[in-house]
Amino acid sequence: PVIRLEDYRPSDYLIDTTGLHFTLHPTASKVRAVLAVRRREGVASGAPLVLSGDDLALDALRVDGEAWPDEHHTATPDALTIRNLPDARTFVIEIETILDPSANKQLMGLYRSSDTYCTQCEAEGFRRITYYLDRPDILSVFTVRMEARVEDAPLLLSNGNRIESGLLDNGWHYAVWHDPFPKPSYLFALVAGNLGVVKDSFTTMSGRQVALEIYVEHGKEPRAGYAMDALKRSMRWDEEVFGREYDLDIFMIVAVSDFNMGAMENKGLNIFNDKYVLADARTATDADYANIEAIIAHEYFHNWTGNRITCRDWFQLCLKEGLTVFRDHEFSADQRSRTVKRISEVKLLKAHQFPEDAGPLAHPVRPRRYTEINNFYTATVYEKGSEVVRMIRTILGVEQFRKGLDLYFERHDGDAATIEDFLRAFEDASGMDLGQFSLWYEQPGTPNLIVASEYDAQAQRFTLRVDQKLKPPVEGAPHAPMHIPVKFGLVGEASVDLTWSAVSGADISEDVIHLREPRHEIVFYGIAERPVASLLRGFSAPVTVFPEPDDDALTFLARNDPDEYARWQALASLVTRQIKNAVAIGMPVSGPVLGRTACEVLMEIADADGYEPAYRALCLTLPGENDVAREIGDDIDPEVVHAIHRAASRQLGAHGETLFARLYHGLAPNSAYSPDAESAGRRSLRNIALSYLCHARAEIDLAAEAFAAADNMTDRAHALGLLAHLAPTNQATLDALDSFRTEFRDDPIVMDKWLMIQATAPGATTLETVRKLTAEPAFSWDNPNRIRSLIGAFATGNPTGFNRADGEGYRFLCEAIARIDANNPQVSARLLTAMRSWRNLESGRREQARAAMAALAERKNLSRDLKDILERTLA
Ligand code: ARG
Ligand code: ZN
Repeated sequence: PVIRLEDYRPSDYLIDTTGLHFTLHPTASKVRAVLAVRRREGVASGAPLVLSGDDLALDALRVDGEAWPDEHHTATPDALTIRNLPDARTFVIEIETILDPSANKQLMGLYRSSDTYCTQCEAEGFRRITYYLDRPDILSVFTVRMEARVEDAPLLLSNGNRIESGLLDNGWHYAVWHDPFPKPSYLFALVAGNLGVVKDSFTTMSGRQVALEIYVEHGKEPRAGYAMDALKRSMRWDEEVFGREYDLDIFMIVAVSDFNMGAMENKGLNIFNDKYVLADARTATDADYANIEAIIAHEYFHNWTGNRITCRDWFQLCLKEGLTVFRDHEFSADQRSRTVKRISEVKLLKAHQFPEDAGPLAHPVRPRRYTEINNFYTATVYEKGSEVVRMIRTILGVEQFRKGLDLYFERHDGDAATIEDFLRAFEDASGMDLGQFSLWYEQPGTPNLIVASEYDAQAQRFTLRVDQKLKPPVEGAPHAPMHIPVKFGLVGEASVDLTWSAVSGADISEDVIHLREPRHEIVFYGIAERPVASLLRGFSAPVTVFPEPDDDALTFLARNDPDEYARWQALASLVTRQIKNAVAIGMPVSGPVLGRTACEVLMEIADADGYEPAYRALCLTLPGENDVAREIGDDIDPEVVHAIHRAASRQLGAHGETLFARLYHGLAPNSAYSPDAESAGRRSLRNIALSYLCHARAEIDLAAEAFAAADNMTDRAHALGLLAHLAPTNQATLDALDSFRTEFRDDPIVMDKWLMIQATAPGATTLETVRKLTAEPAFSWDNPNRIRSLIGAFATGNPTGFNRADGEGYRFLCEAIARIDANNPQVSARLLTAMRSWRNLESGRREQARAAMAALAERKNLSRDLKDILERTLA
């Protein structure tokens, strides 16, 4: 059934307290839920109580202590309806269910991961544990008692504080946890097992001591140190920057190896995919460290933005996710380099959210309808949702933004809130009207700005004409011009922003143009020289600009824009366009792809010691093949894109060979590995220099040497990638792959890199490699990380291998999806999103892709999750 935003209504009943009693057993765990239910004011006393379930069987039902007769209730796997309830406003319902956590392959509800009992309840997993009002606006105080055999589960954890524990007969024991903060069921968590722990503590700004505990597999404790450090930095930062203090006496993180997503913010007991906890130099790359830091922070920040203030319904998901992503972005920017962080965010947004917004899975930041909410944990809700919050800050300014957020926390602490509540807090704090701005939550699609400019030297007048062009209207969504904040400067010859004596045609505050109309003609007076407009500095709005400035203007900006982010943006646009043009004219791959000036600018930046190495590395990184394809838009032939892309790498490598050799040798590490941003930046510059040298010389000796010499996973994985992608059949490559496997065969998250590197080797034969790898011990059809590393990486990160002209890649993916769907619908549905841009392919591949999906759609018993994505993708 379709769930609609406009159908929201409060429930008839509330659940003031929830007692959960677990008797844990691998295949038959008993759950007794004791719910203190209250009829809402104004609801008639006869109203039935309808609780949600998923795959449940009712074992017993009591109301106020009495077994409830069969004729007064109906239990199905999906629902428990209780009738003839007492006239009293409050009563107690007791529900017993029996679960098989070992058979739970969906990894939703209570399941087992490597013999540890754990839970995942967001969005609707709690109803797989017991019948409940499983919706985020039902806040309840939870007390959880767990019993287990000491031998199976010496460790018994849940939300809040441990208030009791002890031994029972026959080798059993128990623990009772109480969480004083009312919370929705999706934030419930339980962990029981035998794990190692790393302990630390944190003193909050008001002087309270908080115990910090990170639980990992025995023996992996040394790999949790960085996560602990990131946690303490996150806690301090949230106090300093947002005034948010932690509120319980203990904060726990548990790493598990089978997890559908990245991590989960359960109150006081975050559960993590272990790849986002475990790191050391030998096993984790710089990117892994950065992800761990960001995700630890993200989940911790949810304690206020998500937990203390939660969502009224799942349509409001971006209320907690967009805001929390914005907060983790700001955290990483403060911990690392702001410009470098911003560039990475924009690259990610364009790579994931723009195609989503341009394809069949497009939806507003706040969707209006869904059939399966798990399919809406998307780049649009998360990343565009974060950009929308960032725009609010741009529009209000840092101070008013902080005031608005403070008001939001003050007003809505303990609430299940809406986007309207959120916006109203900013309006009330700042006195500004965000009515037009709110369209960002309602209208799907990336707006496009059409820009033209004119300089009148005599009148010293510069005119900027900007049209905002929206995607075609979508049923049910408004379609009106948006409030788009465009950060800008008018750059003059001397590399400074020019000032103007007067301006007309738009509201401009400091360095922001506020576009509100379909068209603005903005006239700047008193402009003494012809400027180049630098628009969208810091990517101040998630929009596209078309046409972009011409090559001369982009070159000028790449060299002279006083804004560092904008210099990167100009350079990236310039390089992307030249590659795109070469693809369009089908140029011979032996000729030059990039213009001479573009090459020169790239070399200037590569060689400029005044820039951070990480920034130089980002500038030197060519847009990926998928980025080029996205910019081209339609009729894509991935083979041609690949050939041109390789040619550009070769050209640049040859052009800068001397410089790259100097960088590669000059940046060789002279001290032990450290994951800090500065050292990571030097490694990234050195590694990109190595890539260009390998491309230029058409040989991989240097990569083989680098692989052998590496004392850390960043350099090692990078060198292995070069070997496998440039010379997949070379003996040196086979030897390196072998030695990697020998060293890490017992370490699944490291072997994921081994799978991924091989899966992304370009070329038609990789499909056979991927098929063979599914039989390797390193792979498993049951583990989401394995599936994403091999099959996901193949489908999203290997344009030529996956998009084989004969369609075998699509058929392989669809078969794999059907197989995975029987176990884990969330993972299968997510995998299929790899097909979302199928309509942009050239006609032969397009037809193959369509046929493969149509064949998948014919299969019986597909999950609701998968059907939803399949139907929307094909529609
Ligand atoms: N709230 C989690 C996070 O962003 C994600 C949980 C998603 N779970 C799901 N079943 N879709 O940190
Ligand atoms: Zn989140």
